[in-house]
Amino acid sequence: MPLVNAKEMLTKAKAGHYAVGQFNINNLEWTKAILLTAQELKSPVILGVSEGAGKYMCGYKTVVGMVTAMIEELNITVPVALHLDHGSYEGAKKCIEAGFSSIMFDGSHYPIEENFAKTKELVETCNKLGLSIEAEVGSIGGEEDGVVGMGECADPEECKMIADLGVTMLAAGIGNIHGVYPENWPGLSFETLDAIQAKTGDMPLVLHGGTGIPDDMIKKAIALGVSKINVNTECQLVFAEATRKYIEEGKDKQGKGFDPRKLLAPGTEAIKAKVKEKMEIFGSVGKA
Ligand code: 13P
Repeated sequence: MPLVNAKEMLTKAKAGHYAVGQFNINNLEWTKAILLTAQELKSPVILGVSEGAGKYMCGYKTVVGMVTAMIEELNITVPVALHLDHGSYEGAKKCIEAGFSSIMFDGSHYPIEENFAKTKELVETCNKLGLSIEAEVGSIGGEEDGVVGMGECADPEECKMIADLGVTMLAAGIGNIHGVYPENWPGLSFETLDAIQAKTGDMPLVLHGGTGIPDDMIKKAIALGVSKINVNTECQLVFAEATRKYIEEGKDKQGKGFDPRKLLAPGTEAIKAKVKEKMEIFGSVGKA
């Protein structure tokens, strides 16, 4: 199946009270692990690409080439969206040109009027081309690709303003942050989420910073209208841990254990297990 935009999968998720995972990719192993798991579990999936990861993978065109070819060669039949994560205005335009099926324009650091104007323009372009578009209100805390946010709670009125522009899905800050949550993290603000959902109705809401959010909070967020959950750091942590274990056990020194296809295999398997765990919690298994 060719790449699809994220609209249909998220509309179904919102109506069916489950969420589709966005798993960020960093290289071939990540992409392969996520696609194979989605196929095995018959789950729709969104592959997220940050601007930094896009650069690392030699540019957006390389990413589109790798992902589309892999879908074909691995016979992936579940719906897959290729989505720019936290895109700048320029980055969004580049991904549209390169063949992404979905983009996020993160204008949360602009004054709301400028966020509004830029999002509006990109919504028009995406609508014309049949792409889905995610916008953000209230910056998500933590650090991602050198961009540091404060973990705000979005203003529900501003969320409505941006949702009314016709975006496909809306990321709203509800006290969530990227990366590992600190010990003293007070948790998600369900009051804010409830108020945002009341203002934005059927709009699928996006929860960033999926790493380390306790399962009961994830389930409550889904019940309150979250239909897309982004996970990145957790896959990186399990990949690093499995790779470290392999090396610490001296396996790279046994036979041809240094072969990258062997060296990177435990990390790849660890990503598969993590993605499976998340899809089960999100409720997207069997929904493709
Ligand atoms: P984590 O790295 O905290 O899982 O967040 C991922 C994310 O929100 C990508 O946009």
